[in-house]
Amino acid sequence: MKILVFTEKPFAPAAVKAIADVINASGNEMELVEHGTRADLLQAVGNAHGLIVRSDVIDEEVMNAAPELKVIVRAGAGYDNIDLEAATKHKICVMNTPGQNSNAVAELVFGMAVMMCRNRYNGTSGSELKGKSLGIYAFGQVGRNVARIAKGFGMKVQALDVFVPDSVMEAEGVVPVHDVSDLFSQNDFVSLHIPATPQTKGSIGYDLVMKMPKNGVLINTARKEVIDEVGLMKALEERPDLRYVSDIKPAMAEEFEKRFSPRVFFTPKKMGAQTAEANFNAGVAAAEQVIAYLKEGWNKYQVNK
Ligand code: 3PG
Repeated sequence: MKILVFTEKPFAPAAVKAIADVINASGNEMELVEHGTRADLLQAVGNAHGLIVRSDVIDEEVMNAAPELKVIVRAGAGYDNIDLEAATKHKICVMNTPGQNSNAVAELVFGMAVMMCRNRYNGTSGSELKGKSLGIYAFGQVGRNVARIAKGFGMKVQALDVFVPDSVMEAEGVVPVHDVSDLFSQNDFVSLHIPATPQTKGSIGYDLVMKMPKNGVLINTARKEVIDEVGLMKALEERPDLRYVSDIKPAMAEEFEKRFSPRVFFTPKKMGAQTAEANFNAGVAAAEQVIAYLKEGWNKYQVNK
């Protein structure tokens, strides 16, 4: 059977080799399309039984072009790029690979936090993370790694996650909070790890950001859609002490940069999970999951019904 690995943003070469090894050892065949266009995807998926992607958009048009497709694995955490309803309609199992790239994303949170505290490394006197407070919004795999690393920096850590019992946070030395307003008002840094869902889209805006203490830093390694960009701009305008750093360029990135640089910073391309280790872990897990599903219907991480 053919397993298509389609990644607009390629995995590290060592990860690609490891994925190929897993697929070949199972007696299946891998087709690799990197930097592919939509047309490339529609063509390549035509005879694929399994599909491995990253943030690549997989909608019903792709599924219509893939009559043999049985399983899609998103090598990573967020699956808002995949039309789950359409997949269910087409009897396609969709899985993610939870936890496999979470350390990479968590490390970038601190890379960006330190960069902002040190005034983007311009040599002027900055500030330290030690002794500051950090609010983690969503205590999943990335949030937990962020908490672990924050302790090494000597930060005080709070977290909010309605799906996680307080005891889980407390066991990690994290103080649970139950109101998002408190998370923003009580922390010097707020790090977003919520998925983009109808409930969270546009949910971080003026009111919340304005609650942040003086010199607050909002860090987004989650999704751009969770930000109300107009509201955030208004807050940045009224509060010249606030800073926003994101691994996902806002839709209005140019305007943000023009009006608020150097208080805002955006990576050129989402790179939180772009490490050799994360690529290897997520890619190999995805390959193993595709094969296990095709072979024996293994679906532990299925995210559609
Ligand atoms: C994820 O949801 O796993 C991260 O956002 C990483 O996405 P990427 O595979 O597109 O880098």
